[in-house]
Amino acid sequence: MAQDPIGLIGLGAYLPERVMTNADWAQRLDTSDEWITRRTGIKERRLARDDQTTLDLAAAAAESAIADAGLTAQDLDEIIVASDTPETYSPDTAAFLQHRLGAREITSYDLGGSGCAGFVLGLDIARARVRDRRRTILVVGVELLSRLMDWTDRHACILFGDGAGAAVVGASPRAARILAATAGTDGSQTDILGCPVGGTRYPFTLERAEKREHQKLVMKGSKVFKEAVTRMSAASRQVLAEAGLTLDDVDLVVPHQANQRIIQAVGQVLELPEEKVFVNVDRLGNTGSASIPLALWQAREAGRIKPGDLVLLTSFGAGFHWAALLLRF
Ligand code: UT7
Repeated sequence: MAQDPIGLIGLGAYLPERVMTNADWAQRLDTSDEWITRRTGIKERRLARDDQTTLDLAAAAAESAIADAGLTAQDLDEIIVASDTPETYSPDTAAFLQHRLGAREITSYDLGGSGCAGFVLGLDIARARVRDRRRTILVVGVELLSRLMDWTDRHACILFGDGAGAAVVGASPRAARILAATAGTDGSQTDILGCPVGGTRYPFTLERAEKREHQKLVMKGSKVFKEAVTRMSAASRQVLAEAGLTLDDVDLVVPHQANQRIIQAVGQVLELPEEKVFVNVDRLGNTGSASIPLALWQAREAGRIKPGDLVLLTSFGAGFHWAALLLRF
C-alpha cells in the first residue's frame, strides 16, 4: 500500500504588533531611512512588547500551525524549536512550549545556535523522524532578537526584527510533500557572525556585562553577505539535483530574509526572474530562525503558492550553517 506523503500539514505565524520604522531608528542612532533602504531594502520590522518572551511568540505561532493542520496540541508526538534567542539557556524553549501548549509528555528539544538555518534543518529532521516513526511533529522558528541586540550598534541593530513561524510535519495525503533536503556547516568561520559571550569560551562576567558584551552581535557584514549568497545558491542547486529537478521546475523560491541585496544576488546567481523570489524583508527585517516560516506563511496567505507548486526554501546563518529544502504543494 502506498504511504501518505510526508510534509507540511499546517503552517502558522505570529508577528508582534509594534512596528519600528527606519525613521524610528534614525531618531535613536546616526543612521537614515535612505541608508538602511539602500543597503538592506528594509523599511520596518516588528518588535515584541516588553512583557513578551520567546515562549509567547513561539506558542502563538505554534497554536496557529496546529489549528491550520486541523489538530490539537494533544495530537503532537514531538516538538522542535529553532532559536538563537531561547526562553532560557537551560532548560530549552521546547520544554516550556510543550507545557504551555498542553501537549503530552513528548520528546521536545531545541536546535539552538544554528542561526537563521535552524528552521529548515528542523524540517529535515522532522521528515526523517516522521518517516521512521509515523509521528506528527511541530517545528517552530522563533526569534526575539530585539532583546539580544545592542541598540547602540548601528551596524547590526537596524537589520533585525522579532517574530515566530511554525509548521506541523506529518504523513497525510494533503501534505505539502518534502521532496528533498540538504544541509551543511562550515565551522572554520565561527568568528564572523554570532553572540559569543555567555558560554564557556567567553563566560558572562561583571566586566563583560558592564560593556554590554552579552548583547553584542559579532558580525563581519560584507563577509557574511558573500558567504550567504554563495551558500544559499549552492544549497539550492544541490537540493534540486538530489530531487532530479532544475531551477526551471521551481515556482517560488523562499530565501532567508536577511537583506534584499543578498536575496537579489542569490536570484542573479541562480538566474531567477524576480517574480519567482519571495521577499518580505522590507516589512519584517531579519527575523533569524523565524524568517523562512514567516515568509512561507505570508507567501501562502498572499496566494503566491498554488496546489502543485514546487517551492524551494534556502537558508543561511551563523556557524556557518545552511540548509535548503524542496516542497511540492
Ligand atoms: O542572517 C545573517 C545576519 N547578518 C547579515 O545578513 C548581514 C549581511 N551583511 C549585510 O547585510 C551588509 O554587509 C550590511 C547591511 C550589514 C552593511 O552593508 P555594507 O554595504 O556591507 O556596508 P559597510 O558595512 O561596508 O558599511 C559602509 C558604511 C560604513 O562607513 P565607512 O566606514 O565606509 O565610513 C559604515 O560605518 O556605512 C556605515 N554604516 C552605516 N551608516 C548609516 C554602517 N551601518 C550604518 C547605518 N547607518 N545603520
